[in-house]
Amino acid sequence: MPASLAGRTALITGASAGIGEAFARLLAAQGANVFLVARREERLRALADELEQEHGIRAEVCAVDLSRTEAVREIVATAERMRLDIDILVNNAGFAASKNFLSSEWAELSAEMQVMMGTVTELIHRFAPAMKARGYGRIINLASLAAFAPTAPSMLYTGIKAFVLNISEAIDMELKPHGVYVTALCPGFTWSEFHDVQGTRELTDRLPNFMWQDAETVARAGLDAVMAGRPVCVPGAVNKTLAFTSRLLPERMRYQLGKVGKMVE
Ligand SMILES: NC(=O)c1ccc[n+]([C@@H]2O[C@H](COP(=O)([O-])OP(=O)(O)OC[C@H]3O[C@@H](n4cnc5c(N)ncnc54)[C@H](OP(=O)(O)O)[C@@H]3O)[C@@H](O)[C@H]2O)c1
Repeated sequence: MPASLAGRTALITGASAGIGEAFARLLAAQGANVFLVARREERLRALADELEQEHGIRAEVCAVDLSRTEAVREIVATAERMRLDIDILVNNAGFAASKNFLSSEWAELSAEMQVMMGTVTELIHRFAPAMKARGYGRIINLASLAAFAPTAPSMLYTGIKAFVLNISEAIDMELKPHGVYVTALCPGFTWSEFHDVQGTRELTDRLPNFMWQDAETVARAGLDAVMAGRPVCVPGAVNKTLAFTSRLLPERMRYQLGKVGKMVE
């Protein structure tokens, strides 16, 4: 169990559902104030009210579409107006498009990259300097087991999550000496709205129970890892085994496996 976070403030993107909501609950229960970001404002407000009443913390919301290039500027301006000093950043918002590369509109592909790469990187770039100056910061970036998996046909998602894993380690190396720890959290199949949004629920429902984790377990593993200064966290023994063995495969075999494995998270 991580130390108490009373008096700290956490910005959580994608807090209106799934793993992000679990992070908000976990951090508020540890005494942290929370700044909740996503598009569905009514969900964020309901969660903020509940967390304030239950834990006596401060909970603020910012409804914004993170695929817009102005999104980070708006979040920073809102945080400044509300006088929120961000100590903990959870870059969690995300989704996976399910169409093939050429059958997708450019706007869809671009949004996927912006939400999970551009916005993630810019949020770190905007909030990390103050963390460094204060000598304390915790940053969790949601990558995925997909970052270790063979590339899936026509999917940007595996490449995007490999990027998140890679930059998390790079930024951790730069910032750790200044008290700012960065962790790439790499879950496997996790119960949330993710596969409903992707439209793969029917397919993923056929997976055995041991392949799945709940969002709270995933969030708790990520929080423990960042507090302990571990740059990569793959939650659960099954996922750890898959990530490890996938890295041992020769490139040709990874390519062949990737071609047949269309089920992604
Ligand atoms: N579930 C899994 O199996 C799994 C496995 C590995 C990694 N992950 C990663 O975990 C993270 C969280 O996913 P989840 O499973 O919790 O999915 P989820 O239940 O679908 O939640 C996704 C969250 O992201 C937000 N979001 C999506 N697009 C957004 C946009 N354009 N602007 C602002 N917010 C946006 C959604 O909020 P609004 O719709 O309200 O905007 C929602 O709060 C993602 O990065 C995902 O890639 C998930």
